[in-house]
Amino acid sequence: MKKWRCTVCNYVHRGETPPDRCPVCGVGPDMFEEVEEEQAEELMTAEEKEKAKPAIHKFSYGLFVISSKKGDKINAQAANTAFQITSDPVKVAIGINKNNLTWEYISESEVFSINFLGKDQINTVKHFGFQSGRKVDKFNNVPYFTAKTGAPILENCLAWLECQVQHKVDVGTHTIFVGQVVSGERLKDEEPLTYAYYRQNK
Ligand SMILES: Cc1cc2nc3c(=O)[nH]c(=O)nc-3n(C[C@H](O)[C@H](O)[C@H](O)COP(=O)(O)O)c2cc1C
Repeated sequence: MKKWRCTVCNYVHRGETPPDRCPVCGVGPDMFEEVEEEQAEELMTAEEKEKAKPAIHKFSYGLFVISSKKGDKINAQAANTAFQITSDPVKVAIGINKNNLTWEYISESEVFSINFLGKDQINTVKHFGFQSGRKVDKFNNVPYFTAKTGAPILENCLAWLECQVQHKVDVGTHTIFVGQVVSGERLKDEEPLTYAYYRQNK
């Protein structure tokens, strides 16, 4: 089955043709573009996918707010896919969905910040992870500051790193941005939030 993405609101429709109207934003079929199916979908049967799912859930992750900027605009999103790759110089990777406003900002400015959260910041994950900066200003009433790159840093995070993008890997729905750390700081000595803790306590 084909996949069609609304170029206005990113709604995804499955079918042989695009829908007559987007059920989310109401635009017509001419505003839809076909999305290429992931190669992985052809490599596994539905049964194999079901069997592999509990194994995939054994991945352990942290949970972060990733921010970026575009000109004088700022935005941020929640992400569990952030990890260190090298130590000298320190390079980190993040996996960002191409539909996200944050993806657009990182692609253009080539900078991002990683904000480490505490266990009492599940609401911060929801605030940055359940809504898009395309619809709301997520930094309205959220205290932040900037350092070297201009990507916003949450005042009440545990620690932060700012990065300059060095590599981009296109992985279909997402891009892996590899960034070299240009500055950072630990602000609080608390245990960081993990994805597992979030799933158990959300
Ligand atoms: C717990 C959690 C983890 C998430 N992890 C990721 C991630 O690793 N990569 C990603 O692109 N989106 C992730 N998201 C989804 C984005 O945070 C979400 O789509 C966000 O609304 C995008 O905002 P934006 O359009 O303002 O950039 C996650 C959301 C939650 C709640």
